[in-house]
Amino acid sequence: MKTPKKIGLFGFGTVGKGFYENLKKYPHISAKIAKVCVKRLDLPRIGHELYFTDNPDELLLDPQLDIIIELIDDPEAAKTYIQKSLLAGKDVISANKKMIGESLQEVSYWHDSFENRFLYEAAVGGGIPIVHTVDGFLRDQEVTEIRGILNGSSNYILTQMQANNWSFEKALREAQLKGFAERNPTLDISGIDAGYKLSILAYHAFGEVPSMKSFEIESIEGVTKEDIKRAKAKRRKIKLVASLKKSNHEIVCSVKPEAVGANDELYSVDYENNAVSVETLISGRHVFAGKGAGSLPTGSAVLEDLKRLLDGYSYQVSKKVRTVA
Ligand code: HSE
Repeated sequence: MKTPKKIGLFGFGTVGKGFYENLKKYPHISAKIAKVCVKRLDLPRIGHELYFTDNPDELLLDPQLDIIIELIDDPEAAKTYIQKSLLAGKDVISANKKMIGESLQEVSYWHDSFENRFLYEAAVGGGIPIVHTVDGFLRDQEVTEIRGILNGSSNYILTQMQANNWSFEKALREAQLKGFAERNPTLDISGIDAGYKLSILAYHAFGEVPSMKSFEIESIEGVTKEDIKRAKAKRRKIKLVASLKKSNHEIVCSVKPEAVGANDELYSVDYENNAVSVETLISGRHVFAGKGAGSLPTGSAVLEDLKRLLDGYSYQVSKKVRTVA
């Protein structure tokens, strides 16, 4: 029997716990969590059999660890841990869309420079395997448009406001209680979180890193009761729609509230669900939908990355002009 790979896990919050719970269900996976680094050692925790530390170096300097899984919400610390781990020859999995979305040039360099792998399925669309799909299955296809709902919290809030007449504040509180929203929910409701996810998809669909400064991003905070009433009267629903198009070699991205009709594939995507449609030149439109936020769905995307690492998979980013030969 193969020796199981040893995992060093940073973070044991919503996604970390989801990953841990999911991994327990698959004892045949040849990997085990050897150490977990958390900010607060004094908090009561599940996972009594795990070894917890608050010292990052216990993971970063441990040559016994094969894989580092980074699931913290501090993007600066995450970047440091990821860089150090890649340099130390470890494979790395992350869910940090803010860090990845803001650092795609460096991520691109890491992909070109390191033999060891860096995967981040959980950073986009929660449990929907969309990064892998765009990067791997559609790698030889020309993608012309990606459009979807890429933030579970804002979709949850808009759904509760429209279907159940909830106030924005009540719906946001509930999204936080359910573990959908970020610690700083401004990123969710402003559209910026969806913007990071669009950037990541653009990198895998086109091999290019768009500038988020050029994105048209609009918050759901401006959606009024009047807007909702008007949309309802026309049998429409307001959704925070993220869209990315490539025309004349230019990538155009936007994230903004839109009233979509019943014929739109996003119409029935409610609560924390996400959906992504990918338009390709050869095979037309593909639509992927599923849980876009929450502990177990997002933790399952981390688990899928772990399985892919064990299978020897790495991203292709095949449309990219390489930075390193
Ligand atoms: N806060 C994020 C969302 C979590 O609501 O979509 C998943 O990325």
